[in-house]
Amino acid sequence: MPTVLALETSCDESAAAVLRLNNGCLQVVASRIASQVEKHAQWGGVVPEVASRLHVEALPHLVEEVLQEAGQSMARFDAVAATVTPGLAGALMVGSVTGRSLAALHALPFFGIHHLEGHLASVRLAEHPPRPPYLVLLVSGGHTELIRVGAESEMVRLGRSHDDAAGEAFDKVGRLLGLAYPGGPAIQALAAAGDSGRFSLPKGRVSKPGGGFHSYDFSFSGLKTAMLRLVQALSEAGEDLPRADLAASFEQVVADVLVERSLLCANDQGLKTVVMVGGVAANRRLRELMSKRGQEQGIEVHTAPLQYCTDNAAMIGAAALQRLVSGDDGSSLELGVAARWPLDKAEDLYHSPPPF
Ligand code: KG4
Ligand code: ZN
Repeated sequence: MPTVLALETSCDESAAAVLRLNNGCLQVVASRIASQVEKHAQWGGVVPEVASRLHVEALPHLVEEVLQEAGQSMARFDAVAATVTPGLAGALMVGSVTGRSLAALHALPFFGIHHLEGHLASVRLAEHPPRPPYLVLLVSGGHTELIRVGAESEMVRLGRSHDDAAGEAFDKVGRLLGLAYPGGPAIQALAAAGDSGRFSLPKGRVSKPGGGFHSYDFSFSGLKTAMLRLVQALSEAGEDLPRADLAASFEQVVADVLVERSLLCANDQGLKTVVMVGGVAANRRLRELMSKRGQEQGIEVHTAPLQYCTDNAAMIGAAALQRLVSGDDGSSLELGVAARWPLDKAEDLYHSPPPF
């Protein structure tokens, strides 16, 4: 039974997991996350230097815990995996150096994983994972993308945000409404008691140079500015801020835009399945709306299990196991980390000499 130890340190969650492939079934044997969000909350966002230091402190304990829970010595593992791109370089380095050291020490292959490939693999941790081809809506703090995953797992990006990612918009609007970082869960909680139809907000379409719009692309910066203006106007009018209505109206328009464009893209592509992954895919309104509209249009909707939407190491292990069983030998131990690297070049992480 192929077994991997996986590490994730790309942003503000330190995580370790042990995954096993049992008769073709992915099994999360152990998964631990040490979230740093409270430490960063006082600054209103992630402080890279602090993130790296906290990863150094947390990761060894997490590794020890998952190994103990798995009850299997490192020597009997088949591979070690760690996220190597994209993310905060200093933070990535902690997981990568730890992973490569463990791999070298126990003479195991090392898999440097692309973080977005990890998010894409997170849906495979569902009880009934969908089979490709399908369209993935990947919505996280750093990315908003529509990716077609083909029958052979080949990936093609069909849509993207031209400015802020959806999660980033949640975080910035959260700050505007005086909520703690991260904004997504805080807005969701506040919005539950709000009127989502009270304020009409822009849907942020992206113009093509020759006229018309990019049908599958997103823009959230105009929405963020509209929220700022609205808050300013309401404050100047001396009104108490209707924060719940503002949060609900914002959450609704983001969900509307994500659902409309994803389903349009899936229909145009003749795809019958839409998959949602990434931190924002944890959003209840988005999950409900995508399921409802999908059902109306005859499109099956799958979402990564809630605990694997936000950053975790199990999804990194799932991606590594997929590579391991498809015959990849792993990455060079010389592979470093990169703050950015396109997903369609994830294959290069397994080349020698490595790309970075
Ligand atoms: O995938 P993730 O953990 O990290 C990245 O790879 O970026 O996503 C984090 C993002 C944050 O922007 C956070 O505000 C957002 O996901 N998020 C949510 C919810 N939970 C997390 N956004 C909306 N609703 C939520 N329930
Ligand atoms: Zn992520």
